[in-house]
Formats: sequence, structure tokens, C-alpha cells
Amino acid sequence: MFDLRCISCGAGYQSDEVIYTCRRCGHLLEVRYDPDTIHISRDAWKSRPLSVWRYRELLPVSGDPVTLQEGGTPLYHLKRIGAELGIKNLYAKHEGMNPSGSFKDRGMTVGVSMALQLGMKSVACASTGNTSASLAAYGARGGIPSIVLLPAGKVALGKIAQALMHGARVISIRGNFDQALEIVRDLCEKKGMYLLNSVNPYRLEGQKTIGFEVVDQLGGVVPDRMVLPVGNAGNISAVHKGMLELQEFGLADGMPMMTGIQAAGSAPVVRAIRENLPVVIPEKNPETIATAIRIGAPVNAEKVLRAIRETGGLARSVTDSEILAMQRDLARMEGIGVEPASAASVAGVRKLVDEGAIDTDETIVCVVTGHLLKDPETVISQCDPPEECDATIESLLQALHL
Ligand code: F0G
Repeated sequence: MFDLRCISCGAGYQSDEVIYTCRRCGHLLEVRYDPDTIHISRDAWKSRPLSVWRYRELLPVSGDPVTLQEGGTPLYHLKRIGAELGIKNLYAKHEGMNPSGSFKDRGMTVGVSMALQLGMKSVACASTGNTSASLAAYGARGGIPSIVLLPAGKVALGKIAQALMHGARVISIRGNFDQALEIVRDLCEKKGMYLLNSVNPYRLEGQKTIGFEVVDQLGGVVPDRMVLPVGNAGNISAVHKGMLELQEFGLADGMPMMTGIQAAGSAPVVRAIRENLPVVIPEKNPETIATAIRIGAPVNAEKVLRAIRETGGLARSVTDSEILAMQRDLARMEGIGVEPASAASVAGVRKLVDEGAIDTDETIVCVVTGHLLKDPETVISQCDPPEECDATIESLLQALHL
């Protein structure tokens, strides 16, 4: 059994209400499970495949979920980058290996399932790209129409291709993501559509399973630190919540220091942590090549400040060139292809090591959030084009300087 609870005033709401923020005080909600009614055994979990639905006792869906077999993503040991940084236990959880190529699928399998469970007739979101790709796919899987709002000209090509091909209504807004989110919230309220941005507490339930899987993949060990790129701040807050639940239900000990990385041109959370502000002051004109995290007014601001502060975590920004350098290093030194926003997490670790801000004996898990192929245009602009030669061995040898 579970209900929805306001994270600020504690007001409770029934699980069958369509509600995103507290009616009393306007703050964010979260799902709370009643420990007396939930029985979980690690053995039951272990007997199921590694996936979002391994953890179904701590998820809100009651019937068969709308699924594309999300989760179960690889946890890679970063041997070479780790050696360069002097960190023996540095890992990347590759969320780009999900069905639509990003961690959003974990949220959407739960979110779209809940939309159907609640009897909704359509789903909608604003997106910097990945949420729209995922919603379109899961909407198609669940047989429910989807509408996605994108900031015009600022969404990577692969993500638009996915949203279009999966049959969403795709609308480009002449404005940025923050404006698109404001409009879609209004649209959902006025037209009774189901909002599947990360203000939706059910979506975050799916995303918390990133942390569950990491603990399982490390043989029951909670890492010392988890490092995530931060945009709307839903994912880092979700993972933090999941880790709290593992403690609460006696399934794991310890809490990772939750560490958030933002792009330098789009870093309101980093500023709030650095200046010890009580709230996040929105950045009016966010800008970065990592368009996935080009967000100035993170909707989960209150949750992320708690996650970082309560766990003794850190927040840092990285420049676009630091992001692109790490994207290349992950690809060339480790064979791991990620989109720019994802590389921000590992680039953040490099920066924290350079600053001497973290202990290199820590076990560190970076979440790399989306696949390399999401944003082919940025890749092409960073790499030399293929060389061309005639279709003869002589011409090939000449091209190869052999
Ligand atoms: N990495 C990638 C690849 C993303 O697409 C996003 C968010 C993030 C990191 C940041 O996660 O918002 O939970 O802090 N993308 C959203 C979208 C905003 O619309 O696809 P967050």
C-alpha cells in the first residue's frame, strides 16, 4: 500500500488521485509505501531478472505494466579513466542501453502504466528530447496517444527522430525547455491530459531503480558516491529516494554521497549549493552544448538540494569543452558511447579529483544517462569526417599511409 505525501507540509493524498503538487502548499509530492503492508525479500528480488520490475514491491503499479524490458543496464568498470584519475573503483552505469536509449524509460514504464491505471486518455510532456522519445515509445506500447513539446531548434536529432517515428504529436515551442514545461503543465490541467514530466511522482519511482540495480550489481554494496548529470533534477532525487528506501526496508546499509553535475552555462543547482541558498534561483538563459540538461528552472529543486545536503554530497559545473573531452575519452578509452549530457557526470569526477575535493579510495558510480547515437550532429562536429579513397588496394594503402 502506498499514498502520495507532500515533501514540505506532509499532506497526504490517495494513490488514485491525479495530482502532481500539494493542493495545500504547492510543494512537490512523493510516493510513500507503508512498511507494515510491504514484504520484500532480497531472495525474491534476486530470483528475477535485473530490470525495473525486479523491484515491483516498491513500485506503484498493480497490474501488468506497459513495458519494453527497461533497466538491467550494464555497470562498467572504468579501468583506464579510473587509472588516469587514480580511482580504482570507478564505474559507469550505462543508461543509454535502455530500450529508447536513455534512463527515461525507467520512468515511463511506470508513468505510462499509471496513466492507464488512473484511466487517463492521453499523456503529455515537455522535453529536451529524451523524455519525449521515451514517452512516444511507451505511449505507443500502451496504446495511449502522446503529445510532446520541445524547445525549437534545441533538441538533438536522434531524439526528434524517435518521437516522430513512435507517433507522438510533436510540437516545437519557440522558447526554451522551462517555458515549454510551464505551458504543458497548463495544457494538462486545462485538458485533463496526464503529465509525465519529472514533477510526476510516479515517474520518479521507476527511475529510483537505477540505484537498486547498482547495489545489486556491486554484490549488495552501496557505493560511497553516486554522480549524476542534473537538469530538471528528477533523476538524482529519484536515486536518493530509492537509497533511503533500501535503508528503511533493511535491504542495504549506507547512503552514497549524492553528487550532481551541471553544465557551466546552466548551473542553478550548483550555485545554490555553493552559496548555501535555501532555494534554487532559476537561470534565465541556460546555454550548453549538452542540450539534454539545458534547463534553468529545475522543477525538482527542493528535492535535489535535500539529496545533496543530507548525504554530504557535492555539486559542480563543467564546461562544454570538459564535457566533450570526456565524451571522447569514454568512447575511445573505454568503448562507451554516450551523449554529451551523460559525459558530464564523469567529467565532474575528473574536475573533483583535480580540485582534490574527493577521496580517490571511494567507490564511485557515475550514471551515464543517454546513448551516443542520440546526438549524432554534435559527434560529427567534433570528429574528422571519414577519409575517402578509390576502390583499389593501392588507393587504400595510400590513404592509410602504409
Ligand atoms: N541526461 C540526459 C541524457 C537527459 O536527457 C536528462 C534530462 C538528464 C541527464 C537530466 O536529468 O532532468 O532528471 O536532472 N532530460 C529531460 C528530457 C529533461 O526532457 O529529456 P534530470
